[in-house]
Amino acid sequence: MIISSPSDYRAAAQKRLPPFLFHYIDGGAYAEKTLRRNVDDLADVALRQRVLKDMSQLDTSIELFGEKLSIPVALSPVGLTGMYAQRGEVQAAHAADKKGIPFCMSTVSVCPIEEVAPKLGRPMWFQLYVLKDRGFMKNALERAQAAGCSALVFTVDMPVPGARYRDAHSGMSGPNAAMRRYWQAVTHPHWAWNVGVHGKPHDLGNISKYMGKAVGLEDYMGYLGANFDPSISWKDLEWIREFWKGPMLIKGILDPEDAKDAVRFGADGIIVSNHGGRQLDGVLSSARALPAIADAVKGQIKILADSGVRNGLDVVRMLALGADCTMIGRAFIYALAAAGQDGVSHVLDLFEKEMRVAMTLTSVNKVADITPDLLVQSA
Ligand code: FNR
Repeated sequence: MIISSPSDYRAAAQKRLPPFLFHYIDGGAYAEKTLRRNVDDLADVALRQRVLKDMSQLDTSIELFGEKLSIPVALSPVGLTGMYAQRGEVQAAHAADKKGIPFCMSTVSVCPIEEVAPKLGRPMWFQLYVLKDRGFMKNALERAQAAGCSALVFTVDMPVPGARYRDAHSGMSGPNAAMRRYWQAVTHPHWAWNVGVHGKPHDLGNISKYMGKAVGLEDYMGYLGANFDPSISWKDLEWIREFWKGPMLIKGILDPEDAKDAVRFGADGIIVSNHGGRQLDGVLSSARALPAIADAVKGQIKILADSGVRNGLDVVRMLALGADCTMIGRAFIYALAAAGQDGVSHVLDLFEKEMRVAMTLTSVNKVADITPDLLVQSA
């Protein structure tokens, strides 16, 4: 199968993964309107083509929280990454590291913080969910800090899980025999694709470390199901601030008023996101929400944005709409599932190549010049 664009990896991932996992990654909430709008609204953003400026010295790098990024892209936190490829968090983190961009580890990772962070040439970021079990949160923050994680991504759009119909149909919503077998296989040290290997699987790293015992997928689903916390408020963020001294980003902002609150609270950045259309269907796409948020924040803190970014041109579009940096979820996960670390490296190289084309044809030779000035009304 020919892979010539980031989107080709979606079909490749579908071939490789069991259906319940492919649909878990690919799907969204309810009728999946927001999931589709994330992609479509971004693809509809028209840019001004400008020509005949010398673009031979183009620079795609940025600086963010004192770190240099070779392209304005970071890997979004994706739960169960180690289910899509063996030791998937390690593989994705290595690819990000090689590219010179941050990998953000999800709370809900198969590999624990301590397995991934020390192997990297640059610090990784850590993502935290609010759980009723504050002991877990405190433990995770202390471990992330001890492992040298450079930024905390605090996800606030999951006080309750979104209704994902595809998961109910595919069998992902509840433990079942197929899932159990796959979990056994993918987390087994001698795992091979589509081969059921029997033996003791690895456990769910970050949660197992906290509980002091091996936690498998079923235990985890039960634990998480009982631990979503609808009481989450800005007070919880103050509590987290006591334990986290580095840069803190609030992920899941979609409204200018919440963005202003994040500035007032003292966040170092926000991530404009609707969780890739996986939470409340019908909310604005990130592309549509972003300009008003950028206007409200007015450069006071960093704005990152994800949900719908599928290629390097989308990165330029998101930046033109007001983001300082983008993040990608499915775009790297499909590649990881299809081709492991090499797939993620390839997709990140494609992103850079496409960014360069977009910057050349809009005549901007540095990322700071990608501003709303690049936007043009289409029809
Ligand atoms: C996610 N996302 C997510 N977010 C988070 O803060 N913690 C998590 O554990 C997860 N888990 C997760 C699993 C899967 C399979 C997906 C697809 C997404 C959301 C993720 O960080 C990001 O916001 C979206 O993926 C962005 O949308 P795109 O790039 O996938 O369109």
